[in-house]
Amino acid sequence: MESKIEDLNKKLALAYLGGGEKRIEKQHANKKLTARERVLYLLDEGSFEEIGALVTHRTKDFGMDKQQFYGDGVVTGYGTISGRLIYVFAQDFTVFGGSLSETHAEKICKVMDLAVKVGAPIIGLNDSGGARIQEGVRSLGGYADIFYRNVQASGVIPQLSAIMGPCAGGAVYSPAMTDFTLMVQDTSYMFVTGPNVVKTVTNENVTSEELGGASAHSTKSGVAHITSTNDVECLEDIKKLLSYLPQNNTEKAKDFPFELADEVREELTKIIPDNANKPYDMHAVISGIIDADSFFEIHKDHAENIIVGFARLGGKSIGIVANQPMFLAGVLDVNSAKKAARFVRFCDAFNIPLLVLEDVPGFLPGTDQEWNGIIVHGAKLLYAFSEATVPRVTVITRKAYGGAYDVMNSKHIGADMNYAWPSAEIAVMGAKGAAEIIFKKEINAAADSEAKWKEKEAEYAELFANPYSAAERGFIDEVILPETTRRKLIKAFAMLEDKQVERPKRKHGNIPL
Ligand code: HXC
Repeated sequence: MESKIEDLNKKLALAYLGGGEKRIEKQHANKKLTARERVLYLLDEGSFEEIGALVTHRTKDFGMDKQQFYGDGVVTGYGTISGRLIYVFAQDFTVFGGSLSETHAEKICKVMDLAVKVGAPIIGLNDSGGARIQEGVRSLGGYADIFYRNVQASGVIPQLSAIMGPCAGGAVYSPAMTDFTLMVQDTSYMFVTGPNVVKTVTNENVTSEELGGASAHSTKSGVAHITSTNDVECLEDIKKLLSYLPQNNTEKAKDFPFELADEVREELTKIIPDNANKPYDMHAVISGIIDADSFFEIHKDHAENIIVGFARLGGKSIGIVANQPMFLAGVLDVNSAKKAARFVRFCDAFNIPLLVLEDVPGFLPGTDQEWNGIIVHGAKLLYAFSEATVPRVTVITRKAYGGAYDVMNSKHIGADMNYAWPSAEIAVMGAKGAAEIIFKKEINAAADSEAKWKEKEAEYAELFANPYSAAERGFIDEVILPETTRRKLIKAFAMLEDKQVERPKRKHGNIPL
């Protein structure tokens, strides 16, 4: 027995070494942790249980039978984060550049299958040169096996992807189909085709970082939901994000201890400027409402005219969607509609109640928007809110104009409680533009048309630039004082806690994609 145990220990020691000391040194020199270091940092101390440490690839071509590394370039298993079960796979760049072989894919599929059967999140730490070139189509098949599982698991368990090195070619599609993609600054990139192919096909000169680095994907494309400055911060971000999520779609997120005191937040009364055209930072409204320091923003640097993120209100997880008057006056456009729609659907799939903070002057006009399909993309957000069955509450802080009023979680599309501050303006459009259109003849005929315009603008504003017309019809449930908003919302979400909605049977809806 002793010699057999010794033999096992030798094999495990080799497995723990991955591609060997030299390659580990290179990984560290490139400011990256190894796969095993990442897993151990991510999970609660002593909780990691490895699965498949002794798996090896089955390729004989190109002398591969003489190059064997236990684990075959991916560390897989389960453990806990803050005491909650999670499944994990971490690609090991020190073994064949973390490239994906048939057996590497099998290991990933095994933990994905377990995660779905048990109902716990799966976290993928990606750091890979892509398909194992020596394996050809067997590797491609392995990718497709993962893609298929990503889709089957979608909306059932949370799936998180961290990009902590290269992720190129078709490999990008697994992270893209998971719920959240995190990227590490300077050491990770994602693209369908790299700079060399780009140069050949389009004659563009671009670096990997410019083309698909964390900065490109967190600002321009929106492919990355969260950017972290290094590996450790990325792993911390994963832990933080998980704290807002339930284990699966049949559960609710964990509550944090909380007692409702008779809280009044005076600072909320001072945020809205006297001039309706002046911007203010919606983040101030968010912090005025939620539990202290509990906001975790998603897509922070992409489509900044809308803010989305998780927070806690009265100790419970909520998803927040808020227009941001500081950027483009908070208009809805292609990117902001897509960003918010995806977030709303995630929250709905995982029983996370939605809070909408609304100050929106409408949709962004222009050929760029129309030709890029604002009609279809705006419809995504409308559709996402309309189909959501989680508790849904809206607070209109200022503008709720035009179609955007309907879209931003209005009562008409199924919101449960809709509040407005006294500063709310709920109308088809701003008073100035409205007066110009409906009183055009009178304004043109007047001796002083400028004065007439002002008079008519004031008339329209008097009638509609307030929350009362909507409140009279019950489109707004209550006009509330800003300082009471936090208390009102805690009570409203508590009242809605057991909300149940039955939908007619169908295979699935047809969201405008
Ligand atoms: C097998 C690979 C590999 C791969 C890297 N390696 N990529 N082995 N298959 N795809 C090996 C290298 O041979 C090397 O082995 C080790 O990993 C580290 O690679 P280096 O090149 O030394 O590292 P670095 O300089 O950091 O460059 C990393 C890299 C580069 C940019 C990722 O290795 C690279 O360009 N790799 C090929 C990428 C690629 O074309 N992949 C296929 C894409 S198509 P040793 O023994 O020296 O340590 C694809 C399709 C997926 O993925 C489709 C899914 C549907």
